[in-house]
Amino acid sequence: MTPVELIKKKREGSTLNEEELRWLIQGYVAGTIPDYQMSAFLMACFFQGMSEEETLTFTRLMLHSGDVIDLSDIPGIKVDKHSTGGVGDKVSLILAPIVAACGVPVPMISGRGLGHTGGTLDKLESIPGFRTALSIPEYKSVIRKVGAVLIGQTNEIVPADKKMYALRDVTATVECIPLIAGSIMSKKLAEGIDALVLDVKTGRGAFMQSYARSLELAQTLVRIGTGFGKETVAFITDMSQPLGTTIGNWLEVVESVECLKGKRGHDDASSDLMEVTHVLAGAMLMLGKKAKTIAEGVELSRASIANGSAYRKLLELTAAQGGDASALENLERYPLPRHSIEVKTMDTGYVAEIDSLELGLTSITLGAGRGLIEDTIDPKAGIVLSKKVGDSIDAGDTLAVFYTDREAVLEPARDRIRKAFRFQPTPPQQKPIILSYVEKGGVKTWM
Ligand code: URA
Repeated sequence: MTPVELIKKKREGSTLNEEELRWLIQGYVAGTIPDYQMSAFLMACFFQGMSEEETLTFTRLMLHSGDVIDLSDIPGIKVDKHSTGGVGDKVSLILAPIVAACGVPVPMISGRGLGHTGGTLDKLESIPGFRTALSIPEYKSVIRKVGAVLIGQTNEIVPADKKMYALRDVTATVECIPLIAGSIMSKKLAEGIDALVLDVKTGRGAFMQSYARSLELAQTLVRIGTGFGKETVAFITDMSQPLGTTIGNWLEVVESVECLKGKRGHDDASSDLMEVTHVLAGAMLMLGKKAKTIAEGVELSRASIANGSAYRKLLELTAAQGGDASALENLERYPLPRHSIEVKTMDTGYVAEIDSLELGLTSITLGAGRGLIEDTIDPKAGIVLSKKVGDSIDAGDTLAVFYTDREAVLEPARDRIRKAFRFQPTPPQQKPIILSYVEKGGVKTWM
């Protein structure tokens, strides 16, 4: 076998067998297949897709590229959640402490920023000292002690996804169902879960922009999880505008802390974020047998915010992973970016649309994401929305404020952010944030 033969085979639309896929994945992890050949292979997959069986084999091989963690000696039903990626999607930062505070252990392997979307690891690492590269014994010790642990792919755990994920981020090879499925499910199956809740995003800021493609992705993920013997359910949620008000790593930590403290998330611009968080947490608590129904789980989730236990769990988790919990207690102490620029409008009327894809891409230019694998993130960079869809606006109103250290991007960023907003004279019809619920037995519209 040669990489070129296999790239050509996929390019021409053929199916690769197990031996061929194993050879490619193992060679890539070992470093004998270079990034440029893997990039070409990924692009061939992007255009040609994979058969159902090939996707399953690919996922299994990605999973077994490293160790599969056994958490059977830790009491409780372990449940995790994973999002297919969104703009301003900081749900994991809020939900993991909630669910752990309610007594369901949450072992979570997340990713960094991918394409125009942010990543949980980059957000966590914006907390001074927070370590996301734990060894397996450290991982087990944190989940045993705290009830939640949030790490990234390592050289021991899903190393194939660690490398391929970083490569896909910078080679425009993200939006491909088999590659997303292999990436997500290999991480989830490696982390020691018993059950899984998936948040499949749909709309302009999602990797699958149409509802039909999002449903196809949700069903593929549920089939794979179930096939591996893990109870798996998925929600399809709206990503046509950013979730909550912040885009960018530390900014998203700040919003998460304020939501966990109950200061935001009720009848304000973070309500969409908290609606998704509570429903996903409710489903996790149901799968973890702490609630009989999702609705009962949602009540427990809300109570954990009201009684402060979820926020305290975030502080405990942060300290257990080497982070400075006092940075969360004193948000105002964080270094300020060199520039903070208000983006104003001269229009009047209502916000009809906010282009989340465009805002995600703009946040990368501010320093919140990567253009090259070796780029470093500026945790302070990003965008805070002052208006969301449905808000009324007057001439002179601020639409958003953006933060960056990069002088050269100020004018283009201001222009892109302004153009990401579309207005209309009358209030737009509000869309539901949670569209459907997908389980092994079928699909239901979510009420
Ligand atoms: N999340 C992942 O972990 N992988 C993807 O490919 C997309 C979202």
